[in-house]
Amino acid sequence: MKQNQDNKGADYQGADYNGPSRVFSGMQPTGALHLGNYLGALTKFVDLQDEHECVFCIVDLHAVTVFQDPKLLASQTREIAAAYLAAGVDPDKAIIYPQSQVAAHTELAWFFNCVARVGWLSRMTQFKDKAGKNSQAVSVGLYAYPVLQAADILAFKATHVPVGEDQKQHLELSRDIAQKFNNDFGVPGFFPLPEPLIKGPGARIMSLRDGSKKMSKSDPSDNSRINLTDDAETIAKKFRKARTDAGMVPDNIDALAERPEVKNLVGIYAALSGMSETQVLGEYAGQGFGVFKPALADLAVEHLRPISTRLNDYLDNPDEVDKVLRSGAEKAAAISAPIMDDVRRVMGFWGT
Ligand code: TYM
Repeated sequence: MKQNQDNKGADYQGADYNGPSRVFSGMQPTGALHLGNYLGALTKFVDLQDEHECVFCIVDLHAVTVFQDPKLLASQTREIAAAYLAAGVDPDKAIIYPQSQVAAHTELAWFFNCVARVGWLSRMTQFKDKAGKNSQAVSVGLYAYPVLQAADILAFKATHVPVGEDQKQHLELSRDIAQKFNNDFGVPGFFPLPEPLIKGPGARIMSLRDGSKKMSKSDPSDNSRINLTDDAETIAKKFRKARTDAGMVPDNIDALAERPEVKNLVGIYAALSGMSETQVLGEYAGQGFGVFKPALADLAVEHLRPISTRLNDYLDNPDEVDKVLRSGAEKAAAISAPIMDDVRRVMGFWGT
């Protein structure tokens, strides 16, 4: 995003940040997680927790930007926490908590509402996609959503944010907000400019029914996505039905450019197996999809089965999950509270 003229000409005020590195990310509790969430973000959470201080949030405040049934919100939140745990996020290494339990998110979001510019938000493509033709009738919260996302990250002065590619523009906005805050208040390096970690073939998993659309919870067709909770038979059926073409698996990456559905399946295979896309093509070049799809289904089932077993175990033990969430919320609040004290002081509020 271009520097806004209200930025008073600052160039890189966050580059002076010399605080500790910290990882932050979040997922919305709006339904079961799918393979895109898993490969785009959740596997990265697990990889990062050994080497970095990690804070992983369940972003229930983001979820309520569209109506959520109050009878379901808490259990949906618990389900995402259970998925984090089942995928291997370790609560002894990483903090796991619900966003609504830590007040810093909403407070900093308000401050940032007064820093971010309306013009910046009106360029957000995800808002345009979600609001569609209905942009006057959606909630103010849906419009301000990316500002809350910036607050999530910066309430922890997080330096790295593992996400799928669809979050790239929101991360750019977070950097712009951090930079403008640092500049407006004359505090170079107060907030870091958070780096998105968007890597590998898993960063953009597409619908199994349409290679031009991302795999999404909100797609009306359940056959468009693999849910972490799907059983082996369902997974095999969904891959069998996945759209491809009449050709064979090609022998080079360039040949995938015009074949988005095939590219997607090869990318999924690569992300699940840890192989590169070139290696996958090397193994299956010249084979038909009658061979490739069952092999992919077997790989996915083998990979996801232990996760869905653990997920169901956690869902049968909600007290255990709640204990993790409560203790995570305390730890998250302890990190963000002194940062918020400093933010209030920098802005000059009474009592600071
Ligand atoms: P959400 O809940 O839509 O998705 C959670 C994570 O999954 C990734 N993802 C995908 N990755 C690859 N292929 C796909 N088809 C796919 N679909 C989803 C998303 O990129 C995301 O990493 N706004 C965020 C939540 C959020 C957040 C934050 C993230 C709120 N505050 C602060 C990072 C930092 C969202 O709606 O994710």
